[in-house]
Order: sequence, then structure tokens, then C-alpha cells
Amino acid sequence: MTLIWGSSHFSANACLAPICSLHHVAVTTVEGIGSTKTRLHPVQERIAKSHGSQCGFCTPGIVMSMYTLLRNQPEPTVEEIEDAFQGNLCRCTGYRPILQGFRTFAKVTLSPSLFNPEEFMPLDPTQEPIFPPELLVGIEMKFKNQLFPVIICPAWIPELNSVEHGPEVAKLPTQKTEVFRGVLEQLRWFAGKQVKSVASIGGNIITASPISDLNPVFMASGTKLTIVSRGTRRTVPMDHTFFPSYRKTLLGPEEILLSIEIPYSREGEFFSAFKQASRREDDIAKVTCGMRVLFQPGSTQVKELALCYGGMADRTISALKTTRRQLSKFWNEKLLQDVCAGLAEELALSPDAPGGMIEFRRTLTLSFFFKFYLTVLKKLGKEDSEDKCGKLDPTYTSATLLFQKDPPANIQLFQEVPKGQSKEDTVGRPLPHLAAAMQASGEAVYCDDIPCYENELFLRLVTSTRAHAKIKSIDVSEAQKVPGFVRFLSADDIPGSNETGLFNDETVFAKDKVTCVGHIIGAVVADTPEHAQRAAHGVKVTYEDLPAIITIEDAIKNNSFYGSELKIEKGDLKKGFSEADNVVSGELYIGGQEHFYMETHCTIAVPKGEAGEMELFVSTQNATKTQSFVAKMLGVPVNRILVRVKRMGGGFGGKETRSTLVTVAVALAAYKTGHPVRCMLDRDEDMLITGGRHPFLARYKVGFMKTGKIVALEIMERALFHMDNCYKIPNIRGTGRLCKTNLSSNTAFRGFGGPQALFIAENWMSEVAVTCGLPAEEVRRKNLYKEGDLTHFNQRLEEFSVPRCWDECLKSSQYYARKSEAGALIHVYTDGSVLVASRALKIPTSKIYISETSTNTVPNSSPTAASVSTDVYGQAIYEACQTILKRLLPFKRKNPDGSWEDWVMAAYQDRVSLSATGFYRTPNLGYSFETNSGNAFHYFTYGVACSEVEIDCLTGDHKNLRTDIVMDVGSSLNPAIDIGQAVGEPPLFLGASIFFAIKDAIRAARAQHTAGNAKKLFRLDSPATPEKIRNACVDKFTTLVRGPRNPGRWGHRPGKFCCRGRAEMLGCLSAFLYVRWEAMGPHSLLP
Ligand SMILES: Cc1cc2nc3c(=O)[nH]c(=O)nc-3n(C[C@H](O)[C@H](O)[C@H](O)COP(=O)(O)OP(=O)(O)OC[C@H]3O[C@@H](n4cnc5c(N)ncnc54)[C@H](O)[C@@H]3O)c2cc1C
Ligand code: FES
Repeated sequence: MTLIWGSSHFSANACLAPICSLHHVAVTTVEGIGSTKTRLHPVQERIAKSHGSQCGFCTPGIVMSMYTLLRNQPEPTVEEIEDAFQGNLCRCTGYRPILQGFRTFAKVTLSPSLFNPEEFMPLDPTQEPIFPPELLVGIEMKFKNQLFPVIICPAWIPELNSVEHGPEVAKLPTQKTEVFRGVLEQLRWFAGKQVKSVASIGGNIITASPISDLNPVFMASGTKLTIVSRGTRRTVPMDHTFFPSYRKTLLGPEEILLSIEIPYSREGEFFSAFKQASRREDDIAKVTCGMRVLFQPGSTQVKELALCYGGMADRTISALKTTRRQLSKFWNEKLLQDVCAGLAEELALSPDAPGGMIEFRRTLTLSFFFKFYLTVLKKLGKEDSEDKCGKLDPTYTSATLLFQKDPPANIQLFQEVPKGQSKEDTVGRPLPHLAAAMQASGEAVYCDDIPCYENELFLRLVTSTRAHAKIKSIDVSEAQKVPGFVRFLSADDIPGSNETGLFNDETVFAKDKVTCVGHIIGAVVADTPEHAQRAAHGVKVTYEDLPAIITIEDAIKNNSFYGSELKIEKGDLKKGFSEADNVVSGELYIGGQEHFYMETHCTIAVPKGEAGEMELFVSTQNATKTQSFVAKMLGVPVNRILVRVKRMGGGFGGKETRSTLVTVAVALAAYKTGHPVRCMLDRDEDMLITGGRHPFLARYKVGFMKTGKIVALEIMERALFHMDNCYKIPNIRGTGRLCKTNLSSNTAFRGFGGPQALFIAENWMSEVAVTCGLPAEEVRRKNLYKEGDLTHFNQRLEEFSVPRCWDECLKSSQYYARKSEAGALIHVYTDGSVLVASRALKIPTSKIYISETSTNTVPNSSPTAASVSTDVYGQAIYEACQTILKRLLPFKRKNPDGSWEDWVMAAYQDRVSLSATGFYRTPNLGYSFETNSGNAFHYFTYGVACSEVEIDCLTGDHKNLRTDIVMDVGSSLNPAIDIGQAVGEPPLFLGASIFFAIKDAIRAARAQHTAGNAKKLFRLDSPATPEKIRNACVDKFTTLVRGPRNPGRWGHRPGKFCCRGRAEMLGCLSAFLYVRWEAMGPHSLLP
């Protein structure tokens, strides 16, 4: 939403803006700026027509961020547009189409694109709504929480919301504004616009967060705080005594912080601020700091030194021991060495310190100081060492550069529709999503948008806090005291079966035992969501803990598996390894992943009161299983249960089966109470209860010739079909086990095991290239399958377009020309992919409307998953359309000049049925592990990507400089949607090119520290977080925090230090994106 105060507009998240903070503020929501019923606002129109909306759940927020920017700045720059979205997340579309659509407001020249900007309505700022004073929103004190009897919004108290000396600052000499620039740099990476619109600096200080970004800056700069209370006023320095303990300040309960005095910097004073988080934008810090040095007049002898850190203790701290030792010392490498050794000792963290990442955080404290040391040298600009000052080695200069974002640029090329294709036939054209305009205007109805029923009740789940335990007792007495409490539900209330899940190995409610944190034990039903939440917190469960298995390693050690071992074997492994010139073996871990669909799980259950009938509105990918699980739990025939799915705010596999966990509980509540019952999970509950992508542990052994030709592979992992990626390996054996742990059950997630296996293949392929000392692209190309080859599971490769994608990608990315500037690698991926009705019936899409999925219109449907929905449902629709066309044929013949409406009416009057069903079954499937024969897949999809990245070896930051993707998707039904998918989540795996580019860059950085390291293999588990990147860039700082505390080990001069590493590999989502999109294969859906 947009908050309007005076003439300024602020974007804000409704959940962060208490109603009382809106006093005197005009509020505009997405519904207020335009509508499909009247006229869309240009912002809404452009996001819809530029294909910036897929599931659409994020769209209203994104629209309002852009609207706010335009209200403040009608002709924004590209950078301002990008900054406006720091606080917005989109999971499906990817930001490229969104930014591309909105860039039209910046009046920049656009590359050939998937929409025509000339069709857009112009923006006319004079037409925006003006809020008359009588529309201003007043205070609505609705908070019932006794803890907050008074709520004050600093924005409305002039004394708490003003800046003195503001405008003059810009004119001051830079020497006086060192600290101010440090504050501004820190604010660049401080939350997003939406948070900054509503948060105050005072609040940030008094919250006393140990990872506050501003507190170390204020502490290091010598900021003073004025604190007032009734009749008292005092000024205190914000020094190391200000935060006595966790989340505590020196303020008394009656005191308030009135003002903050940030000092001007003096002659000979230098200041820097640094922050490192897991991602650059809108993320909280792992380590954050403010650093200041003041030199004796006219010298580089330290008079004052302050190094203050967040993220290194339970409060903001100052490294006093280390800094005090440096007084009167000169700014040179001896000081650098002493400070680093001192920090390594003073800022030690215990191995179990909250927040983890011990080695990374400790290394960062040194890295930041190294950056500060170099930055000061650069500012001093010393040419010689006469006054005992150090000198900036030019090879270190990159470490002094602040992180800069590059404005993204992108090009998409795709196959045009054949000449002569009728205008009405929209197949193959970049057609906007049919619901895009409704999503952009906030009219699209998601599950929880359905208006409340009369007497509706709300459900909240009670979940286990233990990983593995016996349930000793459940006490609901406290919950019953909460107003509005209706009832508690447990396993004993289930009329049918408590057994549920795809393999009947799960429970609706845990009965005697819980097997993971988040295991659903029961549910509370109450009259409001808030009462249900309070009551659920009041349910007390006591446990008797049992041994828990948490990691894959634990599971292997305890022989805790599901099912038996699976194996695919081909060729003679023994012979292959004996013939190999070289053998490499290793282990690789690939972490899990949270789906983070924007709409969390949601169900509304409406009992119909007759014969067990119930209507369920569910956000699910799997209407049929939802129906059968509910029927089984209630003990009623399946035909009494109707499941309706209008749309989902994202799923990605996470709503294929896990949505039923919530639905069965809500259905039981509706059954037991006789009322409609609703539950939408909060994000934290959703992440706790439902699993994500399966983490993988792979052990591999690969045999190869000096030429890079692979002759044998043995692998231990789950996704056996993909273990070869697209490489031919004559002798191969893969075995896999599925580990059973005490974590919530993992589930389908885009690619379902495939991406992990492909990733492992690329990992050992890189190692083969490194070991042979050959260019990685040469080794990969050499091992590619060829047309007609049989895979290791004996499926023939037909229309194998990888070589063509490969050549295209190399050419479009100017691979060889750019590689001469950097290290290199390429790799490849294989994977499978309603306009159908429009083409089949030969009517325009405007005559077609997608209503909803429901179990009474399409029984026994398969889940919308595994990238097959368009194939199977598209073909089924095609079949149904053919039936209708056949029935209409006599009427068309009779009236060849008639319209669609004429034929339909004639058929109706002749009592011909105009309703038909279609059914499609993917042909020729049926792989057998026993015989290693039969097709596992209907067809393959091919793609190649190449990425160039830059890493900061000191902090672990990385930047994607450019990515080229070439995908063969057969005949695209809608290139806008397909390109959106390919760029938003590069066909489930190609994004890994960035990982391997990063690994290559790390290899280059490591080689700078140890001669010969370029050929040495090292392990980098996925994902490549800043922590893993920094820790893998082994250097003197990592040695210092890892080894015994021995400053002498460093030596007097640090060795050559490269602060940025660059490498090229495969990837996506980068600063420069070029997607070539064309049909190269035969996988046409339509005849
Ligand atoms: C999505 C998100 C991202 C964030 N990212 C960052 C980040 O990157 N870096 C970072 O450092 N922080 C971050 N934060 C934290 C955020 O900066 C603080 O929550 C915010 O600054 C608090 O300001 P407020 O005005 O909302 O304070 P409130 O929440 O209103 O107040 C916080 C506390 O301070 C007290 N208080 C406020 N003003 C005064 C005063 N004048 N005198 C005495 N007591 C006072 C209040 O009583 C309360 O106890 C983030 C928060 C969110 C929600
Ligand atoms: S379209 Fe953005 S989250 Fe789905």
C-alpha cells in the first residue's frame, strides 16, 4: 500500500503499519488506483501486459511499490525503479519481465521484447487521486494486548522526527562528512523501502538488536544521545557501556530517546561501515561494523581507533582490547597484523554461538578491518613510507571499492509463429496471462479472499516442539479459558482413519508419538483467528524424548531408510576403472530448499449437512488426493467431498501433497462443529510443518582418460535417472537410498531430485577437467551423448539438440572471446515441458475463460506437477475440443458462413450435447529397474547456459555479470510464459551454472595463495552462500581464525592478495541476460 503524508508518498507493508500509525495519513491500496471494471492504472496495465504476473500473489505489492515511486518521481531512472522493489519478493515470474515492463516509465530504449510499449496507456500524473482532508484516516485503537496500553508513532511528534543542519551537509568538505557517508552506506543495505518508510532510527537503537546495522556505526563514531523523562534530561555517549546486555540499553523504563547527535569528522579522521548478509538487499546482517581512526595531527600515528561490531556477541560491541593496543602506532602492515591477531583473539565465538557460521563471522571481522585499512591508505594517498605509514599495493585496490549494483539488461529471442498463421490463432505468440489484469488490480480471488461465511470458525494447529518423542499428556485447560474457544481436536475425534499420506505412513494427528518438530498433534477451533492462535498456544503437551535422527549422515549410520536400495547399472564397471588413466572420488552435499510459495497453505471447509457432504476450497496442486484423503479421514465415500481450486499463489511442488496436512484438519473441524472452518497458515507455521526440497549427499568415483574421456562412474545417490546428465558413460553404476529422519517430510520441488543429480554430474565433470588440466568446455563436449545413443537406463535419444544448443550458447555468449579474460566452463541440462482450446476450436482466446479446477468437473485428475500439466491437460482439452468440433460439423456444413455462435445455437436447438470430456495418457512409459528397460520419460528437453560471475574473496559476496541460456522447448505454446519460467527459475537446474562459475572463481582465488592450487580439487557444497564462498577462499585471515592464536604465523608481509575473482560458467539471472528461444526438437504438443 501507499501512505501519503503531506506531498510525500511512502510504500509500506500493511503488516508493519499498525492502524494508529496511520493518523493523518491517506492510504491507497491496489484496489484504489484502477480496476478491470473501470480502467486499469498504467502501472497495473504494464505489469500485466509485460508478463510480470504468473501466480499473481506478489503482484499487488509490486504494483504499489511502482505506483509510490511514480507519485514521488513521475520520470524515474532505471536505478530508482530497481531500488523501489528491494522489499518485494516474487517467486514465479522472476524480476526480468516486471522490471522490463516498468522500465517503460523510465523512457529508456528497450531491446526487442515480448510486448509492444506503444500499446500502453500514457502515465498522466494529473489524473492521480487527490485526497481531500475529510478522507484522512483516523486513529483506530483496536489493540487488546495489555502490554501496549499506549502506542506512539514518532512520525507525528516533530521533536522525534526532524533533522538539524540537514541541507548544509551536502556543501561541507568531504573530510567533515566521513561518518555521515558511513551512515548512508549502511542505510543502502538496511532493509527495503517499505521498512524504511515506517521504521525510525530511534527504534533501531532502542530495540538493541545485536545485529543492528546502525548501532555499530553510531558507537564507533562517538554519537551522543539525549535522553529525557518527566523533568529530566541527560546526554550520554553511545559507547561500549550503552548496551549492558542482550536487548538492553541504559535507558530507564520512563525515559525516551529525544535526539541523536552524529559528530562531524575531523581533520585526520577516517570512517567506514561494512555489512555482510546472505543477500545484499533487504537482509539482516551476519556481521556488521563501524570503524573509525583519528591520527595525530599531521601524521599517521593512531590517536583514536574504534572498531565496533554487530553480529559478534549478544549486543553491539567495541573491540576495546585490540584498539587500545594500537594507540600511538603507525598505520602500516605491522598494525594490520596486530589488529587482525587481536581481533581473532578478542572476537572469539563459542562453537555453539547463536547464529552459527562461526568461522565465517570471525573471518569477516578481519576482512572488514583489512578493507578499512586499505581504504584509509587509499584516502591518505601516501606515495612513500617516510612517515612509517603503509602504502596501498595497487593489486589490493579492488578491496576498497564499495559494492555497486549494475543495472540489468536483457534480450530474449524466440521462434516467431509461422508466416500465414491466422491472427486469431494465438498459439506460439507471447500472450499475456488471462488473469493478469485481475491480479494487477487486486481483483483476483485467492483462497483466503473468499468472503467469510456466516458463523465461520477459525482453526489453528498444535504442533510438536520435539523431533522424536512419546506424547505423555495433552492439557487443554488453559486453551479453554481463551474467549471464543470452541473446541480442541485430536486423533480421538477422527471418525474415519487417522492414517493418511501417499503411502499411508502419516497421521492426521500424532497419536502417541511425534516424529518431527512441526508434527501436527491437534487443532484448536475458535471464533476468530486471534483467539484460535492464543488458545493453540495455551495447549500444553508433555513429552518423553526419544533419540532423534536429524542428518543424512545420522540416517546412514543408523541404517534408517525408506524402502530398499535402488540401482541402475550398465557396462562393466571393474573393467572401466581398470582401463582409466585416472580416478577421482569425492563427496558432495546439496542442501534442501524452502518452496516459499507466496500464498501459504489455506483451506476453507464448508459442511453441507447432508450425508457427509462437504465443499472444500483449497490452495492445492492436487484436488483428487485432497478429496480422497478427506473422505478417508471422515470415513465417507469420496463422492461426498467436493474440492475446488480457483488459483494458487504459487506451489512449486510444495502443494502437491503437503497441502493435505492442513486440509484434513480443517475438514475434521467443519465436520465436528457443523460450521464452515478456515485456516491459512502463517509463514513460520508453514515452513515448520511442511518439508521442502530433499537435501542430497552423493559419493562418487569417476574413471577417465588423460584426454578427459570418461570411462567409468560409480555413484551413490537418489536421482539415478539423471546421474549422467547428458554425458555418455560406457560403464556406470548408481545406487541410491532414501533416508528416514526426524525432520518434517520433504516433498516434490521443481525437478524432484533431477536437479540434484545433474548438479552432482557437473561437479565430477569439473573435477575431471581440472585433474586433466583441460578446458572444461572441451571435456564436456567430448563426453556429450550423440543422436541415437542409449542412456544408462537404455532409452534412445532422439532429436538430441544439445550440440546445437551448445554451439548457439557459445556463440551468443562470445564465450571464447570473454574467456580470454577469465577462467571457464560450460554445462548442460535435460528436462521435460490453454491456448490449445483456442486453436482446436478455432475461436479467439477472448471467448475462453478459465473458471476453476474442481473434483466434480474433472474427477481423478493428476496433480499439476512434474512439468507435465501442459502436456497432459493440454492434450486432454484438445481431445475434448475434437469431440465438440465433430458434433458441430454438420451445423457448420449446413451454414458455412455462420459464426461460432450460430453453429452452437443450431446444435443446441437440435439437442446435441455441447459438453465433452477429454482424456490423455502419456504414451510408452514403463521403466523397470529389474531389467533396466522400458521408457522412463516420454521425451527430453535440452538447454545450455553460460554465466560469468565476480566474487569478493574477502566477504563472500558474488555478482552475476552475465548469463546466456539457450533452451529447446519444442514448440512453445506461449513464449512469454516459457521465457518467464526459464529466466525465473532456469529450467530447474541451469541456474547451477552460477554455482560452478563461483567455484571456478574461488579456485582462481585459492591459486593466488598456494602455488599449484589451481589443479587441487576442493569441496564446495551447495548452495554457494557468502559463508561458503568466503570460507573456501582460504587466505591469511581464514588461517588466523582457524589455527592456534599465533599472530607470528602471519609473517610480516601478507602475500599477494587478489580481492576479487572472476570466472565464467553456466548460469542464469544475471546482470546481462540473453535468452535464445526456439524450437529445435519435435516435441510439439499440437498436431
Ligand atoms: C523486514 C525487516 C527488515 C529489517 N532489516 C533491518 C536491517 O537490515 N538492519 C537493521 O539494523 N534492522 C533491520 N530491521 C529492524 C528495524 O530496523 C527496526 O525494527 C526498526 O528500526 C525499528 O524502528 P521502529 O520505529 O519500528 O521502532 P519500534 O518497533 O516502534 O520500537 C522499537 C523499540 O524501541 C522503543 N523506542 C522507539 N523509539 C524510542 C524512543 N525515541 N525512545 C525510547 N524508546 C523508543 C519502542 O518502545 C520499542 O520497544 C528490519 C526489520 C524488518 C521488519
Ligand atoms: S507471480 Fe510473483 S510470486 Fe507468483
